[in-house]
Amino acid sequence: MSTPAPFDFVVTGATVVSHDDRRQQDIAVRDGRIAAVGEQLATDGVRTVDATGLLLLPGLVDMHVHLREPGMTEKEDFASGTRAAAAGGVTTVVDMPNTKPPVATAERFRQKLDLVRDKAYVDFGLYGMLDHDNDAEIAGMAELGAMGFKLFMGQTTGDNRCPNDAAIFRGLEAAAAADLVVGVHAENDHLLRMFGDRLRASGRKDPRAHLEGRPAFVEVEAVTRIVTMATEAGTKLHIHHLSTAVGLQRVLDLRAQGHQVTIETLVAHLFLDDEAYATHGNLIKLNPPIRPAGDVEALWAGIARGDVDIIATDHAPHTAAEQAEQDVWKAYGGFIGVETMLPLLLTAAAAGKLTVEDIVRLCSYQPARRWKMADKGRIAAGFDADFVLVDPTAASVLDAATLHSKHNVSPYHGWPLEGAVLATYLRGQLIFEKGDVIGAPAGRQVVPVRAPHVIAQ
Ligand code: NCD
Ligand code: ZN
Repeated sequence: MSTPAPFDFVVTGATVVSHDDRRQQDIAVRDGRIAAVGEQLATDGVRTVDATGLLLLPGLVDMHVHLREPGMTEKEDFASGTRAAAAGGVTTVVDMPNTKPPVATAERFRQKLDLVRDKAYVDFGLYGMLDHDNDAEIAGMAELGAMGFKLFMGQTTGDNRCPNDAAIFRGLEAAAAADLVVGVHAENDHLLRMFGDRLRASGRKDPRAHLEGRPAFVEVEAVTRIVTMATEAGTKLHIHHLSTAVGLQRVLDLRAQGHQVTIETLVAHLFLDDEAYATHGNLIKLNPPIRPAGDVEALWAGIARGDVDIIATDHAPHTAAEQAEQDVWKAYGGFIGVETMLPLLLTAAAAGKLTVEDIVRLCSYQPARRWKMADKGRIAAGFDADFVLVDPTAASVLDAATLHSKHNVSPYHGWPLEGAVLATYLRGQLIFEKGDVIGAPAGRQVVPVRAPHVIAQ
């Protein structure tokens, strides 16, 4: 009797990049997990994948996507959005709750799980919403595996109403009791509406009016208020898409005073500045807006210092017709990005703006740790075998027509790239190779590890 091979397959010769180093190593996979990492692993009788000359990264964890189910599937759905993720080396996405209807009750959370669970090509977590009156629903959503709760302090896509401060505080308390993160869209809604009304009354309709209607202090005010409240409520707080130099400085000041908060910057806020309004118009309308170059530089400096915790995409699809809307007040905020994040960041790495280790830290390791995804974000024995094979030297030009979203309109079309995603593996299964998404949807729900005393209640 022959003994069964100890591994399902071994990837040989790759340079394995982690959040803090890189080494040439083999990785062995068994039953969807990484079984061993080491130099020259025994491969007798075992299938091998030769990855000599390539980088092997843990699959990216994109903390901020809008896959539009339920209610807006003309823009994107779980199948198309997660196919795009697979093609972009993203093996886990966390989907936002600003759908129609919003995911703001346990019942809606359960319905959403039923709706999406068989359609996902990558693993997924779901956020619930922190609504204007739903603190009593937070525990129920937590029981169903909510990754955290999204709080929209400023108006954006969807039917959600921005909660007042009392409602926010009750929601923060409920999230703290559930030991889950609250992720916030930090813009002051009253001020946004006032500035928007003024600009509309003055007859402005051009794309730049969106930037002028959302000045930086609107972000600073919301950041200060929510950090103050979250500290008081004892809530784990994350600020999504922080976009300004002064907003970043305020976070640093608050941290210096002892407040604990993690921050995210978007790929879009790192790669586009306000000059892009002239070229792309309302396609790049985004909440918070694409900012002047000084803000973009400040965010890159924050990354270089280690002050930024996470990079995400805010993959926010709309139809091609909606993206072509000329009137800024009728246009939607957001555009696709889950498939272009890694190629753009690899290109930035080739230009020396950050390292590939930084990419792993910001887009995989830290999101997995912050949201307590026990099996994600590392290439180490016992972790899920989610990984990406990357050719760091492949030169190409980004062609939006090849993207996998329902509407593949991208401001990055035509951009030169250095570095390409060759293959993506999800729990040991090849799900993307050389331009094609492979196999049936095999994504599973990812749930966070919560403190035992919370779950026992
Ligand atoms: C997002 C969307 O369209 O869902 N839009 C955006 O401009 N960022 C919502 C959001 O994250 O605010
Ligand atoms: Zn937002």
